[in-house]
Amino acid sequence: MQDFLTHFEAKGFYVFPSYIENETAEGIRAEIERLREQELFKKAGIGRESNFQIDQAQRGDFIHWIEPLTASADTNVFLGKLQELVTELNRNFYLGIRGFECHYTQYPEGTFYKRHTDRHKNVSHRIVSFVLYLNENWRLEEGGILRIYHEDESHDDVWPQNGTLAIFLSEKEHEVLPTSRTRQSITGWMRNNEVI
Ligand code: OGA
Ligand code: MN
Repeated sequence: MQDFLTHFEAKGFYVFPSYIENETAEGIRAEIERLREQELFKKAGIGRESNFQIDQAQRGDFIHWIEPLTASADTNVFLGKLQELVTELNRNFYLGIRGFECHYTQYPEGTFYKRHTDRHKNVSHRIVSFVLYLNENWRLEEGGILRIYHEDESHDDVWPQNGTLAIFLSEKEHEVLPTSRTRQSITGWMRNNEVI
């Protein structure tokens, strides 16, 4: 935990290699599969409300928002652990996180998400972004890397490997490089107002 706190404070991000058990990841993948079969995933957009638009040139992922009350037991195992992480972040960094929102995400083959930040203009409620990856045996040549940029233009890369959790300050610029294989995750945001 100390390593995490020191690193997060210095660089504004951290990667937990095996954040959840394989069985939990398997259960979450099964739920994603079920929701896909019921056609409950929707093309993700950019911008909020009246500015909302779908722009395939910017991002190519499909999403389904998670409702904790109806989500599967395995998804709730993850949400429970995340709540502990929120407590830890608040205790150490006074971030004032009061809740989080998240969705299941699928990037089909050939898609990406161009460089952006997760803090919408004039809306500053997203404080920390997190992504839990659900892809078994990911190989480097399959791409789909999360690239996090720093102020000096250097960057760090995160592989979307099964069970890995990446967290970063939502104001940091980042992108998802093109993936050559379906790429699955839970993506979310810790907010300074109440959501979950
Ligand atoms: C996002 C995002 C990163 C990832 O959905 O806003 O940047 O690795 N996702 O999926
Ligand atoms: Mn993002």
